[in-house]
Amino acid sequence: MTLSKKIINAQVMEKNAHLFSCPICSSGMELRDKSQLVCSNHHSFDLSRHGYVNLAPQAHTTKYDKALFEARKTIIESGFFNDLLNYITETVSAQLASRKEGVIVDAGCGEGSHLAMLLSQLAEDVTGIGIDLAKEGIAVSAREYPGHIWAVADLAKCPFQDGEIDAILNILSPANYAEFTRILKPGGLFLKVVPASGYLKELRHVFYDDEKEQQETEPVARVAAFFETVKTTRITYDFPLDNELLATLIRMTPLTWGASDDKIEKALRMNISTITIDFEVITGINK
Ligand SMILES: C[S@@+](CC[C@H](N)C(=O)[O-])C[C@H]1O[C@@H](n2cnc3c(N)ncnc32)[C@H](O)[C@@H]1O
Ligand SMILES: [Zn+2]
Repeated sequence: MTLSKKIINAQVMEKNAHLFSCPICSSGMELRDKSQLVCSNHHSFDLSRHGYVNLAPQAHTTKYDKALFEARKTIIESGFFNDLLNYITETVSAQLASRKEGVIVDAGCGEGSHLAMLLSQLAEDVTGIGIDLAKEGIAVSAREYPGHIWAVADLAKCPFQDGEIDAILNILSPANYAEFTRILKPGGLFLKVVPASGYLKELRHVFYDDEKEQQETEPVARVAAFFETVKTTRITYDFPLDNELLATLIRMTPLTWGASDDKIEKALRMNISTITIDFEVITGINK
């Protein structure tokens, strides 16, 4: 008999329920009847049909909807992020090398592909937990990548006990450094990916007249204020793509939100055949 995705995900959650803290009262949690995460003050959170848990039931819907996450998944599967992911895998493997097991949290995991790909390269006893405020992303994650833990949760109030996590990934997502340092073990790894100046520059020329955009200011300085042994690595490459993939890329990137159909049409007519990928990876070690 094949186990349902809900049961597969519930089994992993049951084994690791001690890592969680209640988002309402911060007390310890356990999984009851493979269907509810319950705290010692009886706050309870049901597992969904595919076995994710919603620990932020009050969360408003975000701009990230199902279509956007499906587009993101197509782009990730095309190999768009592969060089970046190889670097992340090497860095996390080196960090976990001396330990037999470990727990990795992807804070702002989106539709889960990055974390799932990383876990597929690591030893089996590494536990992966993806959290995101967008339920639509977590729903795709739990359905597509069973065997890991997926939770709708706010990274500004991470639903985990203090000092239990070996590594945190924070890829193109907002950060909360006080929370990240609280949940990481001493010596744990923090890895943040931010777009660098050349990222998608071919599209930026069309969608941004003034070349300015909202980004976390001074991310390296902010990481350095909380972590030690801070390192930055620039990862830059050109990625070839056809018009169909370009259209999907335009759908997936926040860069184009609110853009008129005219601008989207213009970008598609420009015969862009390669796109610049340019990231800065910032790593730090928890004190
Ligand atoms: C650009 S997407 C990146 C997603 C994924 N890491 C990737 O690279 O495909 C940013 C993500 O941050 C999530 N996010 C924004 N604010 C958040 C918060 N306070 N807590 C958890 N996730 C959040 C969004 O829902 C979205 O999935
Ligand atoms: Zn509680």
